[in-house]
Amino acid sequence: MSDTSIDPSTSSIEPLRELFYGHYRFQYLSAACQFGLFELLGREPGLTRKDVAERLGIEEQPARILLLGCTSAGLLRKEDDGYFNTAVSAPLAGKLDDIPAAFVPWEQQINYRPMFWFYESLKEYSNVGLQKEVPGDSPTLYGRLALDPAKETVFHNMMGSVSRVMAEELVQELDLSGYTHLLDIGGGTAVNATHLARRWPHLQITIADLPTVAERANQKIASLGLGDRVRAIGLDVFKDEFPKGCDAVLFGHFLEIWSAERNKELIAKAARAVEPGAGLFVATPLAHDDETGPDVAAALSAYFLTIASGEGMVYTPKEYEEWAAEFGFEASGRLHVGIGDIVIKGTKR
Ligand SMILES: C[S@@+](CC[C@H](N)C(=O)[O-])C[C@H]1O[C@@H](n2cnc3c(N)ncnc32)[C@H](O)[C@@H]1O
Repeated sequence: MSDTSIDPSTSSIEPLRELFYGHYRFQYLSAACQFGLFELLGREPGLTRKDVAERLGIEEQPARILLLGCTSAGLLRKEDDGYFNTAVSAPLAGKLDDIPAAFVPWEQQINYRPMFWFYESLKEYSNVGLQKEVPGDSPTLYGRLALDPAKETVFHNMMGSVSRVMAEELVQELDLSGYTHLLDIGGGTAVNATHLARRWPHLQITIADLPTVAERANQKIASLGLGDRVRAIGLDVFKDEFPKGCDAVLFGHFLEIWSAERNKELIAKAARAVEPGAGLFVATPLAHDDETGPDVAAALSAYFLTIASGEGMVYTPKEYEEWAAEFGFEASGRLHVGIGDIVIKGTKR
């Protein structure tokens, strides 16, 4: 159906209102999380407005506004004068470092203000949001986070929560029995590496990440007693060659950050570092090959452009398979894992 067949006088404003109100709703959610409201109602369901105001240490009038917004957004249920968590908010009542709670401070503290600059970022094909709102002179979010340990922790809590869910499935689904040494590019704080090392006791893993992150990873690896098989090295993947001697390369939540040109450069580096028979694994959020979604691909693509790097997006699996083929990796299947991730597999010819 073409646009001309839609009569604007009869079309409902409701779907647009959902979009207009998205940012208010998020602020209700974020404020409630910062106050610990869902944890409070998890412990003491049925508190009244007066009780809530007292427990949160705020005036009753602002408590009323907070409770109104949370109730209308479906985060709370009101029964007589008492308030209760709903199925939507109940998962936010505990485990603040896990999905979904770890997303809220990430959206609030890292993304919310920079995303105001989305239009300018599209026009300039650059991460204007990062440049305007995040202190530092690194061209990427990752470089600027190194200057702000509190925000770096918020980021890695979120990333770790996503990677834990992916890693738990990855260890079940990904057969690494035929490989001896995995190179984990941009391996972060070792969530994937430590899961994979536990599942495959014969496997050595080298993580390559920026120096401040490699240091955090090595502390975690040591605390888990995996230091004999897993280690993190600090390097910049765009300035340094990849270390040789590995027979599999994992790009976990990494290539979507960068432009197509840089991704080809990285896949070419991987190809130079390994011998024929080596494995290539690209773990990334899923985008439909026909570019129709899903929502998470659209949201993250805006984030990579406006904030993280100014150049990446959630690419389609088909594109990764084509780039890998260009540098001698034959596609060997796709796996669906985690909360909407896909692993694209290849083998070096
Ligand atoms: C989205 S996180 C993914 C972390 C991990 N692979 C996972 O799945 O949990 C991207 C990682 O890339 C690292 N990174 C960014 N730029 C880099 C560079 N130029 N060289 C090496 N690592 C980099 C960041 O420090 C961060 O840990």
